[in-house]
Amino acid sequence: MVTSDRASAPARSGSVARGPGLAEAGTELPTAARFRASSRLWPTGVAVLTTKDATGAPHGTTVNSLTTISLDPPLLLVSLGSSSRALEHISDTRVFALNVLSRDQEPLAQNFAQPGRRGGADAFAEIPTEAGSRTGCLLLTDSIGYFECGAQRIEAVADHCLVIGAVLSCGDLQTAPPLVFANAAFRQLR
Ligand SMILES: Cc1cc2nc3c(=O)[nH]c(=O)nc-3n(C[C@H](O)[C@H](O)[C@H](O)COP(=O)(O)O)c2cc1C
Repeated sequence: MVTSDRASAPARSGSVARGPGLAEAGTELPTAARFRASSRLWPTGVAVLTTKDATGAPHGTTVNSLTTISLDPPLLLVSLGSSSRALEHISDTRVFALNVLSRDQEPLAQNFAQPGRRGGADAFAEIPTEAGSRTGCLLLTDSIGYFECGAQRIEAVADHCLVIGAVLSCGDLQTAPPLVFANAAFRQLR
């Protein structure tokens, strides 16, 4: 005899609906809180974006908005809040780099997200770095990979700016698994 447990099976652990689900979805636009809660479900990698200011001093910021756009030519984008200091520096110098973090580099991600953190070269004092050959932006040598970019376009969209980067060089550095950000927390791939 063939039986089916579809109708009576309880929801599998980890798949229980936590939000309003479909029933309450009306015609109103979602609130900021609702949008944030839904956005958190999308897992991403984590990178430290490095750039330099008009005097050449380095600057770092944690980002997870990295998206590749095109393979030929190689283009990517990051979305930066309009008040981001990194955005101000990229607007001045038109160069940046993205350092893709490994699962062991969560402290760096935490550090470069702090609003009141040390700036300039001091911020990198205890971190192994090398100046990228194409941009001069700092590359974190313990990260798993990097992209050096020239800022091709900077487009203001609502409260963020989309920074489109022409990739000038990129490479792998370490073989460790990536750091993951999902549901508002840093996570490690198993
Ligand atoms: C995991 C994570 C990802 C983040 N991603 C972004 C991002 O993509 N764009 C952004 O503007 N801020 C992002 N932030 C917040 C910035 O890192 C934070 O606001 C930082 O202080 C901005 O520094 P700045 O003003 O020197 O650029 C992220 C923070 C965390 C913890």
